[in-house]
Amino acid sequence: MLAPGLGQGGQPRIDAASGWAEEARLAKIRQVTEADWPALKATRLAALKDAPHAFRSRYAQEALQPDEAWRALAAARGANADSAGFLAYDGDRPVGLLACVWQDRQHGLVRLQSLWVAPHVRRGGVASALVDAAIGWARDAGARDCEADVTDANHAAEVFYWLRGFHRVPAHPPRNGVSRWLRNVRQTPPTPWPGEDEAVQLVDSDPGWPAKFEGERRRLTPVLSAWLDGEMEHVGSTAVPGLLAKPVVDIMAPVHDLEAACEAIPVLEALGYFYAPYRPRMHWFCSPSPSRRKFHLILLEKAEPEWARRLAFRDCLRADARRAREYAELKREAARQHPRDRESYTRAKASFVESATDEALRRGVAGQSAPRTPAR
Ligand SMILES: CC(C)(COP(=O)(O)OP(=O)(O)OC[C@H]1O[C@@H](n2cnc3c(N)ncnc32)[C@H](O)[C@@H]1OP(=O)(O)O)[C@@H](O)C(=O)NCCC(=O)NCCS
Repeated sequence: MLAPGLGQGGQPRIDAASGWAEEARLAKIRQVTEADWPALKATRLAALKDAPHAFRSRYAQEALQPDEAWRALAAARGANADSAGFLAYDGDRPVGLLACVWQDRQHGLVRLQSLWVAPHVRRGGVASALVDAAIGWARDAGARDCEADVTDANHAAEVFYWLRGFHRVPAHPPRNGVSRWLRNVRQTPPTPWPGEDEAVQLVDSDPGWPAKFEGERRRLTPVLSAWLDGEMEHVGSTAVPGLLAKPVVDIMAPVHDLEAACEAIPVLEALGYFYAPYRPRMHWFCSPSPSRRKFHLILLEKAEPEWARRLAFRDCLRADARRAREYAELKREAARQHPRDRESYTRAKASFVESATDEALRRGVAGQSAPRTPAR
């Protein structure tokens, strides 16, 4: 299941005398001082080499900077009311980095940037501890919000920030290939993934499912009209007459622009939809909650391959009763093996879905079928 548990970083505060923070599970967090410039340089260059997709700056550019520039940067991050830098250490080895910089004092906005954790200590709470230290600094400095930019190729960072209480918000002006994440640091954020995930429960096909889709489509279309790029589609197993399914109606809504459609997130939340950055390059929602699902809703651009793929798979099952029976068998077996783990259940069906979709796309079946009742 997604339900990624929160890191255990806590809220480390920097001790003024020692410069050391409370321990993360593996690393210690330390606010950068001028003397830390070699560690700052080594960590930043390691980050740019390891994760070029995550940053806008390039290794080749920064590697050319003279040591005096690194020393000056470390000094500025250490003793400057405008910014702060934090290094995570595993023993005496620097293994992580984060900087925070005042972006807009008038509006109480601090920007987090350059977050990186060495691959061998990832998923151990290091980034969580760095972000908590930075948020502590920002809060003490009087900030109301912290923001972070995440490149589109970096789904892990989207999930990470969301779990730390950040919300995806539109950037003004919009920037290509980058999303903006914001958190009010004066409030305790709500738990992002509440309660238990719903179990995998398959039921016989219900002829009322298309009407449920239609009702929800009518409710959502006027609300989403500013962002919609055409009609919503009923996809997934409940869109295939006669096919057993989890009783959750999957809705796919085309949007002109995914970044602009960030504005739809709070609108849908007000209608009882729960948002999670569950998949890259789309906005994913379920309603009313992950533990009690009636609808899944995804907003995505039609140019995304996922748009055509979901239609192709639906239409291939609507048109081919033998395929639909095979799929039903596979679902039964996957649900028997993974009754409480939705992600493993989905993975168990993945290669069938992939190959049936590829074949349907080759044959060009997408968008050609209306619902009908295949043999059970
Ligand atoms: C993103 C990054 C900073 C996370 O660092 P980390 O120390 O592994 O993060 P944490 O251990 O504090 O993770 C906290 C939670 O975030 C989520 N998370 C972190 N990495 C994830 C990933 N690759 N996929 C999905 N969820 C992830 C998990 O839920 C994790 O909790 P869990 O391990 O208990 O499931 C790290 O992967 C990294 O440095 N990546 C390359 C550089 C980068 O992308 N920087 C961000 C620029 S915006």
